[in-house]
Parts: sequence; C-alpha cells; structure tokens
Amino acid sequence: MSSSSDHPAAGSIPPSSSSPSAPSSPPSVRSFGGGKVGAPAVRILGTGRYTPEKIVTNVDLEKMVDTSDAWIVERTGIRERRVAAPGELTSDMAAAAGRMALEKAGISADELDMIIVGTISGDMPMPACAAFVQQKLGAKTCPSFDLSAACAGFLYGLTIGERFIRAGGVRYVLVIGVELLSRLLNWEDRKTCVLFGDGAGAVVIGPNDGDGRGILSTHIFTDGSLAGSLFIPGGGSKEPVSQEVVDKRRHLVHMEGQDVFKAAVRNLSSASQAALAANGVSGKDVDWVVAHQANLRILQAVSQRVELPMERFFINIHKYGNTSSASIPIALDELLGEGKLKQGQLVLMCALGAGISWGSALIRW
Ligand code: COA
Repeated sequence: MSSSSDHPAAGSIPPSSSSPSAPSSPPSVRSFGGGKVGAPAVRILGTGRYTPEKIVTNVDLEKMVDTSDAWIVERTGIRERRVAAPGELTSDMAAAAGRMALEKAGISADELDMIIVGTISGDMPMPACAAFVQQKLGAKTCPSFDLSAACAGFLYGLTIGERFIRAGGVRYVLVIGVELLSRLLNWEDRKTCVLFGDGAGAVVIGPNDGDGRGILSTHIFTDGSLAGSLFIPGGGSKEPVSQEVVDKRRHLVHMEGQDVFKAAVRNLSSASQAALAANGVSGKDVDWVVAHQANLRILQAVSQRVELPMERFFINIHKYGNTSSASIPIALDELLGEGKLKQGQLVLMCALGAGISWGSALIRW
C-alpha cells in the first residue's frame, strides 16, 4: 500500500501529528488518506447484508449467564443479536451479502477484479474465507484474500480496495465484512458474550464517473501496544490448539472492556476528526454517521467530542449487537434500504477493533 506521502492527493491531507483535530494520535502515527472533497475516484456501487434468522434476546441471555436485560441495555444499547444456525458458515453469510451487493451494483461476479473479506472468524484458519466466498459467488480467479483487523476490517478493506482502483488495473472490488463470533465466544463469560452477534455486510466499489460522488478519504491506524486488550490467545501458533487451551477457554474471545471502551472513544473521535480535517469540513456538514456499532455509549461520547449530533448517527445496535467488521456495511445497507441516505449527502464512517486497529472514511454519496 502506498503511504500518504507518495499519494497524488497527499498535499491535501494535513499530517496527523500536526492536526489540532487529532490530539490523541501519537506523533509517529501516519494516516493513509484519500483525496479532496469533490475529487473522489472511487464510489460505492452497491450494498448488501445478511443476518441470520435466529434472534437471541437479552432475556434469553439471562437464562445463560448472570446478567439482566436492564444491565445490557443501559451499558450497551443492545437488546438482541443474531446467531448463525448450526452448519451455517461465515462464507455462506459473506456470499449472501456479497451477492446482494453485486445485484444492486449491477455487476456480475465474473466482473470482479478482487474480493477482500474483513474477518477474524473465517470458516477455517486456512485457506482464506475469501477463497470460499469467491467459489460460492462464481467469481473465477480474481485475487481474494482475508484481512484481519477485527471490527475495523471493513474500513481497512475499503481503504485497500479504493487504493487498488485508484492505482489502475483494478475496476471492481467486493469488500465484505463478516463475522461469526457466536462460535468464538465464551458463553459463560458475561463480560463478552452479551456484546456480539453474527452477520455480514458488503459493498461493491468501482471507479466513479466524474460526478464528484464517492470516497473522499480514508484513514487507518493500529496501536499494537493495546493488542492484549481484546484477543483470542489460543489456537494460533503461540498456543496451538490443545486440550489445555480448550479447557481454559483460551480459544475464545478475551477482553478488557474498560480499556477497549476508552481506546474506542479516544480513537474513533480522533479518526473522525482526521477525516473532517482532511476534507476541510466540520461535524455540521456531515449528514450521516455510519459508525461501528460496538456500544451506544461509545457513540454518544464520540458524538460529544466531535460535535456530531446524535440524530445523525444511524443506530441499529439494539437489533444486532456488535457484529464486528460487518457492522458498518450492514448499517449502510439498512440506511439505504430505509431511503434515508440521499444522493450528495456526506457520510462519515468510523470503526475500532482488536489490534487495536481503527479508522475512518468520508464519502460523498
Ligand atoms: N451483566 C451484568 N453485569 C455485568 C455484565 C453483564 N453482562 N458484565 C459485566 N458486569 C458487571 C461487572 O462484573 C462489574 O461488576 P462489579 O462492579 O461487581 O465488579 C460491573 O458490571 C461493571 O463492569 P464494567 O466492566 O465496569 O462495566 P462497563 O460499564 O465498563 O461496561 C462493557 C462493560 C463491556 C459494556 C464496556 O466496558 C464496553 O462496552 N467496552 C467496550 C467493549 C467493546 O466495544 N468491545 C468491542 C470493541 S470492537
């Protein structure tokens, strides 16, 4: 990936270290940005989503762990989440969302030049979930790969896809965020199991036709010093699968909730501010915020810090919980489906997840 310094539009992007609107970014952090307002090269041509049928409510969870509907709603905004059926695969969900996005874009699978799947819960450790998705879509031999940035996976994928198209030689990219976390959760750990849900969202991106609509900028970041705040310690090469790993539930999600909460508020705010600053706009200019749906309180805090009114945030966390990399494309597809997002409006996206990795995108719809 090219850095902002060798990007043709790099001159339009203030360095994050000197930007007054990104106070919490360490000076060494480089942001990977896009172009100026009015000069986007790539736009979203179609969106899709898939969420499993099975609904698990907070009341259902009360029967499984020591929790309450009232606690979950008050602390997170979540009321229910979807859980994949036995036998349903991550690649099934991803392909369903991808198929819908292709249909809406009017692009056939064999026209795709690339498939990027943001996921940390693929069908198996090897090969990439994207390989199964490609096969299920019938997308022939286009390069297809997974991207591990957890809840920021969709924004990372969007950034990379946009760069490939901008660079030339690649026309249509399918970017999917998909997660089947219900099989990676410890259903006896009330601190994590109440938060997450399963689902998939997808977009097809391609060259814009010079009408000024499209992706105005993307910014992506990682702070590996916080890698231990949200992780699956076992099952990789460090702690290969063993009876002990399984007995100790080290193959499942572990999280330091408060650390992640603070990092999310800080970094979602700074990434949002970076997106606004890079394009010379303010929170007042933003029509919709399609943010990662991790916790309603996180979004309320970001709303205050960035001066983005809460009514501009599209919220569906009450229905799906945190679907990780799927949450932004699911929300975007719902926003469009409800007829709320109009041509020409300004959409801000931001997400943060394990890594910790985070980012933002600003889009002229
Ligand atoms: N039901 C009932 N009580 C619970 C609970 C649950 N599901 N989970 C935790 N608690 C308890 C804790 O044990 C603690 O009890 P104690 O005071 O007796 O020790 C109390 O509630 C407060 O816990 P705390 O962790 O301080 O709550 P919180 O307000 O920080 O909320 C989270 C917890 C997980 C909701 C919050 O930290 C959060 O959302 N963090 C970010 C998580 C996230 O978004 N991760 C994904 C990032 S992509």
